[in-house]
Amino acid sequence: MCGIVGYIGHRDAYPIIIEGLKRLEYRGYDSAGIALYDGTNLNVTKTKGKVTDLECRIEKEITTNGTVGIGHTRWATHGIPNDVNAHPHYSNSGNLVIVHNGIIENYESLKKELIKRGYSFTSDTDTEILINLIQDVKQKENVMLRKAVQIALNQIVGTYAIAVFDKNKPNEIVVAKLGSPLTIGIGEDEFFIASDATPFLEHTNNAIYLEDGEMAIIRRHKNIKIRKIKDDSLVNPYVQELQLNLEQIEKGDYDHFMLKEIFEQPHAIKDTFRGRLKTEKGIIKMAGVDDNLEKFLNANKIIIIACGTSWHAGLVSEYIFENIARIPVEVEYASEFRYRNPVINQNDIVIAISQSGETADTLAAIKLAKSRGVFVFGICNVVGSSIARETHAGAYTHAGPEIGVASTKAFTTQITVLTLIALKLAKAKRTISNSDYHHHLSELELIPKKVEKALLSDSHIKTIAHIYKDVRNFLYLGRGYNFPVALEGALKLKEISYIHAEGYPAAEMKHGPIALIDENMPIVVIAIKKGHYDKIVSNIREIKSRKGKIIGIVTEGDTIVKELADYVIEVPDTIESLTPLLTTIPLQLLSYHIAVMLDKNIDQPRNLAKSVTVE
Ligand code: G6P
Repeated sequence: MCGIVGYIGHRDAYPIIIEGLKRLEYRGYDSAGIALYDGTNLNVTKTKGKVTDLECRIEKEITTNGTVGIGHTRWATHGIPNDVNAHPHYSNSGNLVIVHNGIIENYESLKKELIKRGYSFTSDTDTEILINLIQDVKQKENVMLRKAVQIALNQIVGTYAIAVFDKNKPNEIVVAKLGSPLTIGIGEDEFFIASDATPFLEHTNNAIYLEDGEMAIIRRHKNIKIRKIKDDSLVNPYVQELQLNLEQIEKGDYDHFMLKEIFEQPHAIKDTFRGRLKTEKGIIKMAGVDDNLEKFLNANKIIIIACGTSWHAGLVSEYIFENIARIPVEVEYASEFRYRNPVINQNDIVIAISQSGETADTLAAIKLAKSRGVFVFGICNVVGSSIARETHAGAYTHAGPEIGVASTKAFTTQITVLTLIALKLAKAKRTISNSDYHHHLSELELIPKKVEKALLSDSHIKTIAHIYKDVRNFLYLGRGYNFPVALEGALKLKEISYIHAEGYPAAEMKHGPIALIDENMPIVVIAIKKGHYDKIVSNIREIKSRKGKIIGIVTEGDTIVKELADYVIEVPDTIESLTPLLTTIPLQLLSYHIAVMLDKNIDQPRNLAKSVTVE
């Protein structure tokens, strides 16, 4: 992962880079560093820890003068998080400096070569190999920086977004991209470089999203030149106007981004179906599906590929697609799919789900599916992301930026998009009755209001969180549509509170997890009055007879589970297929409050990153 930021222009680079790095900390936060050129010296400071630790160190160590610089916030891949492995990395000459997001796979062989040629390395990173390779090419071939970068990158196997600076050419930054995102903000006689546009949002609305295999030469007072890394040919820069605003990427009155994003869900879900769901006319408009309707209708099977929370959204949709549209669905971890030899038929279609649109395993799985000649549809949140570009067609969730590392509104908006697609196909295939179809549309339209109502349980959930915050294990159970919600609830708790939690299909409990149950084990049971309600009530009785503590997620007005459970949290009633959009809300809030009470870092949990752009 990692986030990179750079600046060249007429202002002080330091505050722009530091503030930019803070915005990119969702991409990694185990160490950070900055290189600033003050007109004479190239000053590099780096440290283990967060960007605020870097700020403290900088105040003590270096001058912050200079109108050009590059910075980095890291999520360790090669080498543990420490000061030495933090970026930027110098070349042996001390003239070149680099920040890098990605992985150089052939670094071992390159390193051996460079050692033979007299180079030495101080860090364990692959990035230090790359900057020395660039230096080596530059000296050997006697070429300028951009040419040296280009030649070196053509010897690299792996992924990268890099920014390189040469002390002897201080009016230039060279950047390049393959497999990791890179954006260039175009200001008035100034340029910003960043992994995404958020670091420069308050400075400019104009940005170039570099494509894979492209590099840019960014020179003070000059126009940007974009070239293909492979053959050096020039590419016309395409400047886009950004649709983001600052408010969307700030916490506002909330203590954490996660909480803000949980509470944004009514709005986010509405934004997802805005312009698509026409309840009165009984229409669902989705250009990406409409344009490829035949492919969807002729699909023998839908293969869904995703990771993490997005994979859970895929699991929920398996029930929806199969029940309503009668299309068989397989839901695969992208990381497994990409290394299998999956049986894919020409008439299958693949749906890739990703909030960030940058997850390396999902991207690789898409490429594998495409190489087998099948149609790949993407569901992403981040507009213009790699997955959005790599897929044949797709639909955005329009959830707005999700910054908290633990995914919340991405989950509910992905389910919303998937539900819209399933309903659309069901109608076209006539696998749903007219009245049922219209009932689904009007119920979906009511979901944002019902999510608002579910959010009203916040303070009640806080009380429950206080009671269970010190336990070491949790079990989450659900059936049918709500089995994946149990998995998602357990994942949320693990991610931010570091309490061990397992999600299980309720009936499977007796094949193992039941052995864990005693008077100390809290079990969150999603027991809404739909589907196999009676069965889940029996499961609750089984737990109670073994003294387990039940937190029931129930339909408003439920009395049966209320009598059996230790605590219940009510959610409004809706049709079964839409219940995950409601039952997931209390589970998000429960993990949030437990983690806050345990004083954990909510938005930046240890070892995790928002966007996993490495395998
Ligand atoms: C990381 C994040 C998760 C996310 C997963 C998939 O692990 O921490 O929150 O669910 O990646 O990310 P994607 O952007 O592809 O949905």
